[in-house]
Amino acid sequence: MSNLILGIESSCDETAAAVVRGGREVLSSIIASQIAEHAPFGGVVPEIAGRSHVRAILPTIERALEEAKVDLSEIDAIAVTTRPGLIGSLLVGLSAAKGLAYSRGLPLVAVDHIEAHAYAAVMEANDDAYPNLTLVASGGHTALYEVRSPIDLTRVAETRDDSAGEAFDKVAHLLGLPYPGGPSISRLAQSGDPKKIAFPRYRAKHGGTDFSFSGLKTAVLYYLRGQDALAKTPAPDAIPNRADVAASFQAAAVDALVAPSLEYATRRGLGTIAVVGGVASNLRLRESMQLRAAEVGIRCLFPSPIYCTDNAAMIAGLGWHLVRAGRAADLALDASAR
Ligand code: KG4
Ligand code: ZN
Repeated sequence: MSNLILGIESSCDETAAAVVRGGREVLSSIIASQIAEHAPFGGVVPEIAGRSHVRAILPTIERALEEAKVDLSEIDAIAVTTRPGLIGSLLVGLSAAKGLAYSRGLPLVAVDHIEAHAYAAVMEANDDAYPNLTLVASGGHTALYEVRSPIDLTRVAETRDDSAGEAFDKVAHLLGLPYPGGPSISRLAQSGDPKKIAFPRYRAKHGGTDFSFSGLKTAVLYYLRGQDALAKTPAPDAIPNRADVAASFQAAAVDALVAPSLEYATRRGLGTIAVVGGVASNLRLRESMQLRAAEVGIRCLFPSPIYCTDNAAMIAGLGWHLVRAGRAADLALDASAR
């Protein structure tokens, strides 16, 4: 039985490698962040990401093995993110994984980045976490999954437009805050009043559960322009109540994530809600979900912040379950953006 898995992740702006034993025991998890390279552009630049992965991938894998005190010859399988993500970035991790698998005759296993985010919450929970409702809220995705096992997920709702993380990033940009927007907005929101401005909370019609964040983002824009759509957006330092805008936006975004999740879990009788992805490190989201779930007897699972944002431990962890289920692949494995 394959026990020691080397995980490789390069779908977006983090080059990551990790060694995980038995799907849970993280021996190492190395993340080389490119945030500083993309920050001047206010978002991830695909060409920069691809080049940066090329530079970082082998040293990151070496460090992961070193820190785990594991030799490549002891690794039982290689798990690699193959979708979704920036295609040029995905291919860097996949090529490295194929090279290592070929040279060592190791099984290769393809991991879906979103399914790995979902697994991150369970990787650290020491009891049975299934079935559950998983809210994935990241920069690229905002969706609900009904999850019956690490490898059995059904998407039951998703965003009609922007992701929650994108809304944080765009509003941060309007407020002149640095990228990535989530952490900057939370920081500024601490000194603001979340009830000051009543931004809209999207609710799906006809009992639907989908999310939407573009209306909220536009509401913030119009608020900043003084309700005049044709006015110019004020310069960040000319906005008098930036902290109130940040706090009120954050409150609205959190409500728009919490309400549909609870509604769906209650309707389907699911006793556990897992919240994962970059936005899951948001403290207000954690507190609000926890509080409102407790009121209806639902338990919440959150990964530690280091396993909320992109990492390779979640890839190696889920990879172990996939190998066990006989889902190892051959070298013809391909990557896909969607
Ligand atoms: O999961 P992730 O690292 O990458 C993707 O797969 O997209 O998520 C990144 C997103 C960014 O949009 C970032 O602004 C957001 O997660 N984020 C947060 C927080 N920390 C990161 N959003 C809200 N509050 C936070 N504390
Ligand atoms: Zn991610």
